[in-house]
This record gives sequence, structure tokens and C-alpha cells, in this order.
Amino acid sequence: MSVKSCIDRYIKEEYGSITPETAFVGKLLFNNVKGKVLDFGCGPSLLYWAMFMQNATSIDAFDILSENIEYLKNLLVKSKKPEIYYKLADWLLTHGLAANPYSKKDKSLVMDAFKKIGKLKVANILKSLPFKKKYDYVTEIGCIGCVNSESELLIAVKNMYARLKKDGSALFVNWLARRTDIAEEVPQFDGMAPISIAIFKKVFKKAGFRNIKLAYKKNKADTGFATIIYGTAKR
Ligand SMILES: C[S@@+](CC[C@H](N)C(=O)[O-])C[C@H]1O[C@@H](n2cnc3c(N)ncnc32)[C@H](O)[C@@H]1O
Repeated sequence: MSVKSCIDRYIKEEYGSITPETAFVGKLLFNNVKGKVLDFGCGPSLLYWAMFMQNATSIDAFDILSENIEYLKNLLVKSKKPEIYYKLADWLLTHGLAANPYSKKDKSLVMDAFKKIGKLKVANILKSLPFKKKYDYVTEIGCIGCVNSESELLIAVKNMYARLKKDGSALFVNWLARRTDIAEEVPQFDGMAPISIAIFKKVFKKAGFRNIKLAYKKNKADTGFATIIYGTAKR
């Protein structure tokens, strides 16, 4: 399947209209992520992004909030029943993702995603992780916003590195706070504060990563976050 047909199918199955921002992250996941995956800071939205991880064979994940993990586990239990679609649609709606909760169409994309989800745990990206396995891909979508200093960033990135097989890769996607002077000269860390490519590169290198490819993308969506930093790195 091509990324276009994945997105077409998403729309056809009526998960909702797709914003340029969602399509952008969806494409990144579709084009990069493969094999056994561990998602860092999955939030309640793992299932949503899993629909775009078409080349993943399994997806384990964790989040610091037990509510998020409980929510996902409940979805998985209920996935055997039709009302799951309504639950998912409710969630998408509350997150502004414009899903249609009244769709009567086949929902195979979400069911395929469910089948790939494996271990879901409560864990902190800044502490030792309860995953011993090595993965082909580790992903982090917005989770790095939780770090408060460069030394915390290094701990988080080292944790990602440690869970990768040799030649495994990491995908990073982070939103910068909306401001006009983003980028290199604003290395603050507080929640979603700007972390520049320069800082990411320095920290990734320290953690042992190579082939570090990072870029900025202007985000036109009115979500309060002006710019996305995204990219991949290899172990
Ligand atoms: C912006 S949300 C992104 C969630 C999800 N990845 C997505 O794309 O929708 C950030 C997530 O990181 C989680 N988080 C924050 N601090 C964390 C930490 N120290 N360790 C693990 N997860 C953390 C939050 O609970 C939240 O679910």
C-alpha cells in the first residue's frame, strides 16, 4: 500500500477528514517506521498513529500516565465489540481530529492497527524502562516536550538508543511553541518549549546515534504550535 492509498482508505472508512498536520505525521510514520516498534509517551492516541504504521509488525508502548495506558487497554478489550468504533471516534472528536462517530462503513484500518499492539506499560522516559527487548524502530511523538533540561533530554534520548537493535532507527516528532523567533537561538526547556535542531543533534551524538537527519516544518494548523521538528537517527 502507498501512503496515498493509506490516507485515502482512512478517509474512505470515515475516521474523519485529515488535517495537513495529521497527514504530515501520518506520512512520516508510514514512510519510516517498520518492524518491531516501541513508542515512547504514547498518550491515549497510540491506536490512531498505529493506523499509519503500516510497516510495523508489532507495537509496544508506554506512557507516564496510568490513565492513558488504562484507556488504551480498555479500547483493546472492547475492540471485539462494534462500539469500539464509537469510543475511538469520541476520542478523536475530543482531540479535534474530526472523526465521524456515525460512520457505518467497514473499519478495517483500525482493526488492523489493534492487532499489532502488544505490551502497554506505565513508565517514565527519564527512568529505567520495563522493556528488555530490542526493537527495530523506536518512536516519540511529542513526548520529548516533557524534558526540562539538556541533561534530561540526554537521559530520554539514551533510553531510546538503548532499546534499539544494532542498525535500528528512531523517529522523533516534536512541536515547538508558537513564536516568530523559533529555532537555533532559543534553547529553553519547559514543557513544549523550543528545542532547536542544534541541541537535538548535539544530544543525539552524545547518546551514540549516527545518520542524524532533522528538519523543521512550518505548521499552518491553528493548534498553537508553529513549527514541528522531526527526523530520524540510526543506532
Ligand atoms: C503531547 S502528548 C503526545 C502523545 C502521543 N504520542 C500523541 O502523539 O498523541 C505527550 C505524552 O507524553 C507523556 N509523557 C510526559 N512525560 C513523560 C515521561 N516522563 N515519560 C513518559 N511519558 C511522558 C504524556 O503523558 C503524554 O501522553
